[in-house]
Amino acid sequence: MPSAGTADLVIVANRLPVDRVTLADGSPGWRTSPGGLVTAIEPVLRANDGVWVGWPGGTEQDLQPFEFDGLSLVPMTMSAEEVKDFYEGFSNGTLWPLYHDVVAKPEFHREWWDAYVGVNQRFAEKAAELASEGATVWVHDYQLQLVPQILRSLRPDLRIGFYLHIPFPPAELFQQLPWRRQILEGLLGADLVGFQMNGGAQNFVRLVRQRVGHKTHRDLVYLPDGRTVKAAAFPISIDAKGFEELARSERVEKRAETIRDALGSPRKVFLGVDRLDYTKGIYARLRAFSELIIDGHFDVEDAVFVQVATPSREQVEQYRILRDEIDRLVGHINGDLGRIGRPAISYLHSSYPREEMAALYRAADIMVVTPYRDGMNLVAKEYVATRYEDDGALVLSEFAGAADELRQAWLVNPYDINGMKSALLEAYAADERERGRRMKAMRKTVLQHDVAAWADAFLLELAAARGAHGKTVRPAKRS
Ligand code: ADP
Ligand code: G6P
Repeated sequence: MPSAGTADLVIVANRLPVDRVTLADGSPGWRTSPGGLVTAIEPVLRANDGVWVGWPGGTEQDLQPFEFDGLSLVPMTMSAEEVKDFYEGFSNGTLWPLYHDVVAKPEFHREWWDAYVGVNQRFAEKAAELASEGATVWVHDYQLQLVPQILRSLRPDLRIGFYLHIPFPPAELFQQLPWRRQILEGLLGADLVGFQMNGGAQNFVRLVRQRVGHKTHRDLVYLPDGRTVKAAAFPISIDAKGFEELARSERVEKRAETIRDALGSPRKVFLGVDRLDYTKGIYARLRAFSELIIDGHFDVEDAVFVQVATPSREQVEQYRILRDEIDRLVGHINGDLGRIGRPAISYLHSSYPREEMAALYRAADIMVVTPYRDGMNLVAKEYVATRYEDDGALVLSEFAGAADELRQAWLVNPYDINGMKSALLEAYAADERERGRRMKAMRKTVLQHDVAAWADAFLLELAAARGAHGKTVRPAKRS
């Protein structure tokens, strides 16, 4: 057993909350990493003393642990080959599409798998080195599903939790994976395996019974060594109060007004905010909006669409194809329907600070979130959190985890373009009372069930897990 470190809580995730970037003057700097995982975990680490192990992007090899904005970060290096085979390959060319309803075709390559095993081994070794005797290690997401098992073999004294931020697929899809048994066994190294939805937890337990042959009862798996592993749903959330406070600030209100002015003060602003990912349904949503203009329901003086699409995983072919397709579509729509100084779609590739995100949400009358499949979708919750006057409207895909909680949104099937058009139009035309009624109910849900409540629930369950050893970590404090 390696000697213990000093951290009572170790967060292990593929991404660090900041990415290594080159600043305008050529010097190295840091930028917030995109995505829901970072948004959710950052406040949890802030509330607990601990360290975060992860990759800062790139292939730089000379990286040392550092403090950033009060967080202790331990960077993991990645070689160019690992970036290609582990990150772009097995994580984002195999697992991501497989776990998202095969919206794109997953590829299976043995050398990608080998790289996945190697990187998981290194992350587990680093966590084993940093964790104190009996510490809690919380491993995150699909890139690191083998870490719990490797870590347990290195450090049986630890309390190990795993949380999957993306959907866990139904058995029919998961079974395609040539390494399905290894992944299930990897996850079973944890004391508690958390999922976004009940369905994911149930899929996992059923697969463990069928494929690994362990005894199970409801949400528990009984291992031959006497350990018990629990699988349960913990729907993730955001720092709702923090977002609301930001939205109420004068700076954000002013900025929201400036944004609307810059858009030409249309009667209604539609907004989409996504990583540029094929699961997000950006193409179909923009088509639906443009058809409403073509059909004469409104014109560009009445309504504009702001689509923020942060470039993501740009070396993966499917992502490049998507980017080209959307670029072309936006060009067509604006060429055909825009007027001078009035594009129908304002299309933005930038990454923004939280304050600017809040201003965009405040500037938007209708938020459009239409993924084909999404573990949760935090953007939907962020929008709701900023609408403190109970105004605004949310059009939300039935296939986002958030739809389970945000029942009062205008729910749509993103594969049904006509249905989506109707919902966009209804949200556009809804009167103040209708919008208020829906938003009020959704705000109650989001404010009550915030990220601190999510982390409390997971960490308390982990502390109580029957198979768990080790010390208990304080649940996250509420902001
Ligand atoms: P995913 O995790 O698949 O990217 P989510 O909607 O769950 O999707 O989370 C996205 C997170 O990234 C949100 O917190 C959102 O505010 C943030 N985000 C998305 N686009 C941008 C952007 N352009 N600039 C800054 N933050 C962004
Ligand atoms: C989603 C995943 C995260 C991932 C993020 C950004 O939120 O669940 O694990 O970090 O997308 O993707 P990237 O590939 O840039 O890390």
